[in-house]
Amino acid sequence: MSVKETLGGVYKGLVSLFVKDAEIDMDNIPKHIGIIMDGNGRWARHRGLKRSDGHRAGAKTLEMITDYCGKIGVKYLTVYAFSTENWKRPKEEVDYIMNLLYEYLSNMEKLIGGRDCRIRVIGDRNQISDTLREKIIEVEEYTKERTGPTLNIALNYGGRSEIIRAAKIAAENVKNGKINLEDIDENYMSSLMYTGGEPEVDLIIRPSGELRLSNFLLWQCAYSEFWFSNICWPDFTEKHMRQAIARYQNRNRRFGGV
Ligand code: FPP
Repeated sequence: MSVKETLGGVYKGLVSLFVKDAEIDMDNIPKHIGIIMDGNGRWARHRGLKRSDGHRAGAKTLEMITDYCGKIGVKYLTVYAFSTENWKRPKEEVDYIMNLLYEYLSNMEKLIGGRDCRIRVIGDRNQISDTLREKIIEVEEYTKERTGPTLNIALNYGGRSEIIRAAKIAAENVKNGKINLEDIDENYMSSLMYTGGEPEVDLIIRPSGELRLSNFLLWQCAYSEFWFSNICWPDFTEKHMRQAIARYQNRNRRFGGV
């Protein structure tokens, strides 16, 4: 571990001491949580570091939070790692994030061996490199029989493209006579999303102070609860997760009823 990483860990530990904790009801844990891992760049800038350092610190936080979610019984965690719009960033940063993902996936066995976590990568794989695509297939295959929590990593993902893709599959299936037009309903469309077969997204978390969805899980968020915070993603801790879950548990989810 580098000096920078050690200092980062110590700092995070100190900061965490001052974060208010919250009690959570273990009988009402959200089944599916979505996280927009935002604020890596700002976190790095505030410390005079490079943006890439922020992404690396963000990847560490993801490891810790995935582990924690597994412990408390969250069954599905979907994280936004790279959006269809993120290609607009400088090539150096894009390459860094892609390499980090490759490294992360390569270490999966080491990182979550024994944690029984299933990895899926959702999004359009056409634009990503062959090497990364092959690694994704390998890790998905390797972890697919696991029965623990599922980590969906959204990569080159956009909610609108996902809906368009689903609409095209549905149209194709009608054209080929596989289904009738009347078969297209909400359940059918849900099954065509990347998250098809998974429970509804109960809670969406966005740190870093931004109050928007940025094209994340547009179909799936119809009845999600939201939790926003000013903390940057690399500083996000188990305590923040408990705060978010406690808030979720205090809300009255009516799903359009009374
Ligand atoms: C948003 O912060 C973050 C991203 C676009 C990348 C997220 C990537 C990671 C957490 C690491 C890689 C992921 C895995 C699965 C290993 P930002 O850069 O927009 O921050 P800013 O808004 O402060 O500039």
